[in-house]
Amino acid sequence: MKPITLADLRQLKKEKHKFATITAYDASFAQLFAEQGINVMLIGDSLGMTVQGFDSTLPVTVEDISYHTRSVRTGVSHAFLIADMPFMSYATPEQSFDNAAVLMRAGANMVKIEGGDWLCDTVKMLTERAVPVCGHLGLTPQSVNVLGGYKVQGRSEDSAQKLLNDAIALEKAGMQLLVLECVPTELARRVTEALEIPVIGIGAGNLTDGQILVMHDALGITARAPKFAKDFLKETGNIRDAIRLYIEQVESGIYPSEEHSFK
Ligand code: KIV
Repeated sequence: MKPITLADLRQLKKEKHKFATITAYDASFAQLFAEQGINVMLIGDSLGMTVQGFDSTLPVTVEDISYHTRSVRTGVSHAFLIADMPFMSYATPEQSFDNAAVLMRAGANMVKIEGGDWLCDTVKMLTERAVPVCGHLGLTPQSVNVLGGYKVQGRSEDSAQKLLNDAIALEKAGMQLLVLECVPTELARRVTEALEIPVIGIGAGNLTDGQILVMHDALGITARAPKFAKDFLKETGNIRDAIRLYIEQVESGIYPSEEHSFK
């Protein structure tokens, strides 16, 4: 199969064809997801909670993400893989070079970093050094101690405008994909329309270009799943059909519905 590229994702945005993505942490699930039609996977630092059992993503290391990226890459050759840069691995642009290199060598096509316009230099410098960057705005779990919990972001007009400005500044700096987490649907629409690059939502309504779910949420494994999550396995009874249903419902705009979104 032809490898998926950022140009393919841009084309999907242009054609207004919504796409489904998911987190993956190992070769077996990655292969299963790819066989059902998932072409983009995130080796998320959510693995700190889903795989390692911590109560936040903060303990995750570059070595952890590298190990899981290598495992996922072993299972899928054509899929586009985004590897999360963990907490404090990109505190300075210089630090981000070495850590991004580890993840790209493990098989990632792109790295993801959480935060606003303070990251513009890092985005620019990584891109110049051949590392494509995915941004992450809204609820940024690595900042849970600053945010005071896992809360919906961008609810006031000031914070919504700040998020929109951050997104535009990061795109100008070279960001090529954006994950928008836990923001009102209307703000996600504004950001998606303002940017040329594809925007992938999670808890951000159904007006973004793509969706992402943590695989444990999509398969009903998470004990107390967030409001925006949907257990597709409950509806289908087997994992392959659950993933196909997820893809169908994202592509048709059925998921996320209003019950999975924030006003
Ligand atoms: O780590 C992760 O799985 C993520 C998703 C929630 C987008 O960043």
